[in-house]
Amino acid sequence: MNILVTGGAGYIGSHTLIELYKAGHTAVVVDNLSNSNSESLRRVAKILGVDEIPFYKTDIRDREGLENVFAKHNIDACIHFAGLKAVGESVEKPWEYYENNISGTLVLVDVMRKHGCKNIIFSSSATVYGDPAEIPITEQCPKGQCTNPYGWTKSMLEQVLMDIQKADPEWNVVLLRYFNPVGAHPGGTIGENPNGIPNNLMPYITQVAVGKRAELGVFGNDYPTPDGTGVRDYIHVVDLANGHVCALKAIERKCGLGIYNLGTGHGYSVLDMVKAFEKENGVPVPYSIKPRRAGDIATCYSNPAKAEKELGWKAQYGINEMVRDSWNWQRQNPDGYPEK
Ligand code: NAD
Ligand code: UFG
Repeated sequence: MNILVTGGAGYIGSHTLIELYKAGHTAVVVDNLSNSNSESLRRVAKILGVDEIPFYKTDIRDREGLENVFAKHNIDACIHFAGLKAVGESVEKPWEYYENNISGTLVLVDVMRKHGCKNIIFSSSATVYGDPAEIPITEQCPKGQCTNPYGWTKSMLEQVLMDIQKADPEWNVVLLRYFNPVGAHPGGTIGENPNGIPNNLMPYITQVAVGKRAELGVFGNDYPTPDGTGVRDYIHVVDLANGHVCALKAIERKCGLGIYNLGTGHGYSVLDMVKAFEKENGVPVPYSIKPRRAGDIATCYSNPAKAEKELGWKAQYGINEMVRDSWNWQRQNPDGYPEK
């Protein structure tokens, strides 16, 4: 299939491009580069041994820009990664998050249907479960109260896409609820490249390890978890990327609506991650305990059985590969991608 990959220059998008091409698909990328660098696409092309990945520096809210892409390419399906994703920033700038993520998706879906493309895979998040009613979390677990506008955009967009599919069953809509993506392509030439101070645990750990930050702040050690620190379901980004390839097969089978957790089913604490990183890579990660971070929950991990049963997808990489590949990327690219 020929896939429109919105947000394809970003962290998960760039890794997914590799797995798409390896599975025999081709792609066209649309990205406004608001949180990425087109160098990632040049590196993806190099890994794949292709001249280039077709790329349009276009905003998904730009209807004419999207029309132009659909006029030039036969698109079979869209994998929709484009969106703003910083939880804290979304609390400061709610309008910008609702406008970018929701308006952008509404324009995208409208242009898609006008061009007869009614297949979409949407990047959702475990954040839609709020403080989950059950652990491990199955897809039957009721959605919860999100603690920030970013989370609400995911929750609302799930509803928008479900309603569109219900009204027009020609649509195939796959909602993938990612748990905590970490790691990088094993070659270490592409990876996560956060702007400024990282919000997420793994890029913070790697920046401490590489000497860019003095120590990790561990946000709370008084949660009801085995060591008191927060527990999450970290998933290697290459496994996550492969989940999209499996979701495309479901679309080829005309799945209608599909909702899947993409996680490993294992929960690791903050200190588990620090210790695994130090042991696997032989690099110290100094840390100190700080107060809890507002909005955090104690424990969040998936039951990924539905994705295995219906998509034939199961995570292959464990915690050692996650911390190894995160470090491999950071130590080879201490400052991330070169400036745009
Ligand atoms: P990322 O920021 O690296 O990638 C998102 C890409 O979308 C960026 O390249 C950015 O430039 C682009 N973009 C943003 N707004 C755009 C717009 N209006 N038009 C065109 N391009 C635009 O983030 P990521 O970690 O690769 O996440 C990809 C998707 O997965 C996002 O939708 C995110 O919300 C979702 N997700 C991420 C995580 C995570 O922890 N990384 C967890 C759950 C869900
Ligand atoms: N943490 C620290 N110190 C840090 C950063 C994080 O101790 O500097 C802790 C957090 O308190 C939490 C754990 O590490 O216990 C993971 O935190 P992250 O910020 O890496 O991830 P979250 O689980 O908070 O959220 C992430 C994404 C969300 C997404 C969610 C899906 O940021 O967008 O995973 O589960 F929705």
